[in-house]
Amino acid sequence: TDRYAVMGNPVDHSKSPEIHHMFARQTGEAIQYDRILVPLDGFEAAVRDFFADGGRGLNITVPFKEQAWALADRRAPRAERAGAVNTLYMADGELVGDNTDGTGLVRDLRVSHGVALAGRRVLLLGAGGAVRGLLPVLQGEAPAEVVIANRTVARAEALVELFADGGRLSAVAFDALRGPFDVVINGTSAGLSGELPPLPADLLAEGAACYDMVYGDGPTVFERWAQAHGAAVALDGLGMLVEQAAESFLLWRGVRPETAPVIAALRGD
Ligand code: ATR
Repeated sequence: TDRYAVMGNPVDHSKSPEIHHMFARQTGEAIQYDRILVPLDGFEAAVRDFFADGGRGLNITVPFKEQAWALADRRAPRAERAGAVNTLYMADGELVGDNTDGTGLVRDLRVSHGVALAGRRVLLLGAGGAVRGLLPVLQGEAPAEVVIANRTVARAEALVELFADGGRLSAVAFDALRGPFDVVINGTSAGLSGELPPLPADLLAEGAACYDMVYGDGPTVFERWAQAHGAAVALDGLGMLVEQAAESFLLWRGVRPETAPVIAALRGD
């Protein structure tokens, strides 16, 4: 049985083992997938030990994604500019780093919910690691424009500098934010403490889609805001979580699992 794991700190809440075991049953692949709690100063040693012991692949979560990027011998293009790696595996004796988060979100929007990004006006809320990780894949979808709004405008401006060559991109403070936007993606961690960035009531275009990169038991604060302000589609990040896992599984096993039944099982449907 080939061994895989998710490394993080904390990691006990991670749904990745459950998701990958469902993928394994569905595809008939024989894998074992564990959670590994890694000490904050022990990431590199933990990764080296895991592969030296014959481990086949890792998912990396908070707070190690940037360290995983630095540790990789080579990186997939979508991970290179993301500055973060959530998937590691060995190929030809080299440690390969990839980032499936952005692809996971875009697939959840486009494939699972029919929300295309090409030619649309897209607003990103937040300018942390989650938004940076998404930008390379988002720009690959050729939106008409991407605006990054962040509490600390300097962080949004830094991302604009990094990704300026990928398409029309600008940074804005929340108090200067003007719609309408076709797609709004919340990449802030504000919702985790029940907060919402200050958003103008007329932010959304008709038929707009809203996406929260986090999820909880019930709708998130941002999903509820979206529903109350005319969004045609309001989604939480559970679909993204399962899609990024499916992308990792595909990299490791060469087979793409069906995500819909896994999302339904996690929601308790
Ligand atoms: P991650 O890697 O998950 O993106 P991060 O790098 O800590 O985490 O970024 C968190 C994001 O949420 C940032 O954009 C942060 O805004 P600042 O850059 O101004 O700190 C945003 N954020 C967190 N709490 C927020 C709140 N209460 N209101 C608005 N934005 C918030």
